[in-house]
Amino acid sequence: HDIPGLGGDFQPAELSHNAKVVIERRIAKRNEQGDAVETPDEVFRRVARNLAEAELRFGGTEQDRAAAEESFYRLMASLDFLPNSPTLVNAGRELQQLSACFVLPVPDSIEGIFEAIKQTAIIHKSGGGTGFSFSRLRPANAKVKSTMGVASGPVSFMKVFDAATEAIKQGGTRRGANMGILRVDHPDIDEFIEMKADMTTLTNFNISVAVTEAFMKALEAGTTYDIIDPQTGQPVAKRDAREVWEKMVRNAWKNGDPGVIFIDRINASRANPVPKRGPVESTNPCGEQPLYPHDSCNLGSINLKHFTKGEPGAKTVDFERLRTTVWRAVHLLDNVIEMNQYPIPEIAEVSHAIRRIGLGVMGWADMLIDLRIPYNSEEALRLAREVMSFIQKEADAASEQLARVRGNFPDWADSIYGPKGPEGPRPMRNATRTTIAPTGTLSIIANCSGGIEPVFALAFIRSHYLDKNDPTKRTELTEVNEQFEAVAKAEGFYSEELMRFLAEGGHLSERPEVPKWVKDVFVTAHEISPEWHVRMQAAFQEFTDNAVSKTINFPNSATVDDVRISYELAYRTGCKGITIYRDGSREFQVLKHAEKS
Ligand code: CDP
Repeated sequence: HDIPGLGGDFQPAELSHNAKVVIERRIAKRNEQGDAVETPDEVFRRVARNLAEAELRFGGTEQDRAAAEESFYRLMASLDFLPNSPTLVNAGRELQQLSACFVLPVPDSIEGIFEAIKQTAIIHKSGGGTGFSFSRLRPANAKVKSTMGVASGPVSFMKVFDAATEAIKQGGTRRGANMGILRVDHPDIDEFIEMKADMTTLTNFNISVAVTEAFMKALEAGTTYDIIDPQTGQPVAKRDAREVWEKMVRNAWKNGDPGVIFIDRINASRANPVPKRGPVESTNPCGEQPLYPHDSCNLGSINLKHFTKGEPGAKTVDFERLRTTVWRAVHLLDNVIEMNQYPIPEIAEVSHAIRRIGLGVMGWADMLIDLRIPYNSEEALRLAREVMSFIQKEADAASEQLARVRGNFPDWADSIYGPKGPEGPRPMRNATRTTIAPTGTLSIIANCSGGIEPVFALAFIRSHYLDKNDPTKRTELTEVNEQFEAVAKAEGFYSEELMRFLAEGGHLSERPEVPKWVKDVFVTAHEISPEWHVRMQAAFQEFTDNAVSKTINFPNSATVDDVRISYELAYRTGCKGITIYRDGSREFQVLKHAEKS
């Protein structure tokens, strides 16, 4: 039957082999033997039906509900858009916990700390990730009045959070992930910066230093800044900004941690839409989502690979279809908030009061390839701004339209969109609309490049297991990037030998038979300089309410200075934070690559 505005002819997208495997293992309902009892199509149908139920709660008719179900089903089954994994896993099932990201407050008391650990366990069990600021905790060796003893300090308590995470794992769907934040003016900042240096501690945490504007000014001027006692708010010491910065950069160079978040910039941006709920102290585990204490966010990503039109070699962006998709995705994500069963009452309260959503993109590198634009080019930065500003503008308009029908988010009057706010008065259903997520699982399902990252490899070798009960029965297959294979065949330079060469780590640039434009367009992550990575992050950040997930890749030979230059460039170009990774700098890199591919 025809659904108004949707047309009658719909074909679900063909799923790749890897997509089917990931859905079977991580998304679909399984029986006691661990076998999937839902097909991917049934997964999309279950999620669509569940999320469409919200229509009835908003006074919609059965017809509205059916139309929403069909619209949501098609969004997902076409692989044009996917909501974050927890929504795919839990919607329409017992748990009904639909969010990927949470931030929990950590107060300066034993009761408070262990309450936060308990809440973390509840969230991890349901497939969510957690972020924390440990900045309120008194430093190590400070006095503890009630016992006349001394405090253990944030670094030591973080290890307890880590151990709890390790013990819980995540009900077979995913392992718990955490973000740990400490302000740069906390007395224990040195221990914090170095705490992941040996790579065996805190394996369930990413850590980032919350850097203030006062610190950045001192860094620029080459002066000192104040260290503040978190209990009194009073300065207790002075530190040389350049010395502390050097320590951060050197540790990041060594093994990727700590990253940095520019905390005052975050709080002065659209990521802090209801100042009375804040300030923002932390982000979610992968850094793209700044959140208030007890805040949560539902993410969803549009697959840009599907939004080009025209003949190969002369394609353009299909903005019309992108517009409709943004509107439907915002509608779907607003329904997610309604249908969500929040793991603890405080989180339900904040989430309903501000109705934060995070719509972003994946398949950006694939789109550039389709348009024949090298990732590391001014043209790519220009298009990034054009595409993301379009998505942001349309997401704002869609949320505004929803507000007219369903009402503003409850905290609206006190928000930046309210009568007295700098962007108001402007009707708004969702306090934030846009976030760019890593899309680790989603990009495998949609068979596209992750988030806004460049293509990682053009070909790789993957083991295929022939018998799931016997790991020795397997064959090694070379898998080739689809677009690359098509171009190689069309241009006449395809050969099995070339694909094997690339899969084994060879570079396209070494091959004389490959035309120059192909070498430029099919540039991979490690061939792109850190500067281009940062500038791409900044281009997307300019038009994203929340933040942007991006790893700035460095070759193994990069120096500490190179890392410093990138950190400073991220600040100058308006990024909300930065995370780097130097090739080969972590023991477990082999595993990480295997996970990615
Ligand atoms: O693709 P998918 O929806 O599975 O997730 P993602 O975009 O890779 O990650 C989005 C967010 O989900 C992360 O920033 C974390 O907050 C959370 N996450 C997590 O808690 N544990 C994981 N293993 C992966 C992601």
